[in-house]
Amino acid sequence: MNVSILGIPMDLGAGRRGVDMGPSALRNAHLATHLRELGHTVKDLGDVDVALPETLDKHEEAGLVFLDPIINACRDAAGRVAALPEGTFPLTLGGDHSVSMGTVTGNALRGNPAGVRSGLIWVDAHTDYNTPQSSPSGNIHGMPVAHLTGLGDPRLSNLGGGWHMRPEDIVMIGIRSVDQRERALMQEAGILAYTMKEVDQLGITRIVDETMERLGRLERLHVSFDADALDPGLCPGVGTPVPGGLTYREGHLLMELLSETGRVTSMDIVEVNPILDTRNQTAEVMVGMAASLLGQRIL
Ligand code: ARG
Ligand code: MN
Ligand code: MN
Ligand code: MN
Repeated sequence: MNVSILGIPMDLGAGRRGVDMGPSALRNAHLATHLRELGHTVKDLGDVDVALPETLDKHEEAGLVFLDPIINACRDAAGRVAALPEGTFPLTLGGDHSVSMGTVTGNALRGNPAGVRSGLIWVDAHTDYNTPQSSPSGNIHGMPVAHLTGLGDPRLSNLGGGWHMRPEDIVMIGIRSVDQRERALMQEAGILAYTMKEVDQLGITRIVDETMERLGRLERLHVSFDADALDPGLCPGVGTPVPGGLTYREGHLLMELLSETGRVTSMDIVEVNPILDTRNQTAEVMVGMAASLLGQRIL
């Protein structure tokens, strides 16, 4: 497969600094080398330009922190991804999770397909379904999925022109932290979410089966993997850690089973924060997750 790596070194959507170094940390963990060892042709497209917070006034507008520079970066990311040739697998590196407003949109609109439906598998401790009104923090990384489905501020929800993700085409896995008003929005939208309770009760195998029952017929499937979905003991380098996350094997099994379906067409790795990490462990674990999604059977 032809894999194109694109970094979006942005921390403007997060409450703390450091995720802007995520793309570097992932490259330093030999992302491209590991994927080449699996037989892929890998091209690193470098990074999207993102404004540094030090050069900006930290202004908040309508409950949104750093709205304008985030729109610019997401629009650039969407354009870069949408321009990639058909048959390329875009592997996009955050950055905080607000980058996915750009990457998911770009992947959905790639090749400008009329009527092509895209599914989204959101692997995360959080549902990231806040709107500016419901958000307790104003941090845009807690809001990408809501905006992808058309809620929230129109400047963010219209990155794809009139295109929006359908709530029924989204499945979330690993959830264990949802804000009060965010919960109501999730219920209203009817998004299927597997919490950690369901991971414990049903197991990853059944969850992947059910996910594919729902999304398996869609033309494109994007996996957005927030490092905080994994347990903070395994991935300490994240800005919003929540205990009780996916284990190493649950993460890999999820990626391995999704790989076997042959249906996944793009992936994000987000929220890796090297400042908070221990010897780049979180980046190394996340490189392993990407390798499993793009991998082959061990035997
Ligand atoms: N729900 C919280 C908020 O809206 C935390 C969101 C964390 N999101 C993330 N992508 N790490 O601020
Ligand atoms: Mn290595
Ligand atoms: Mn997230
Ligand atoms: Mn998260």
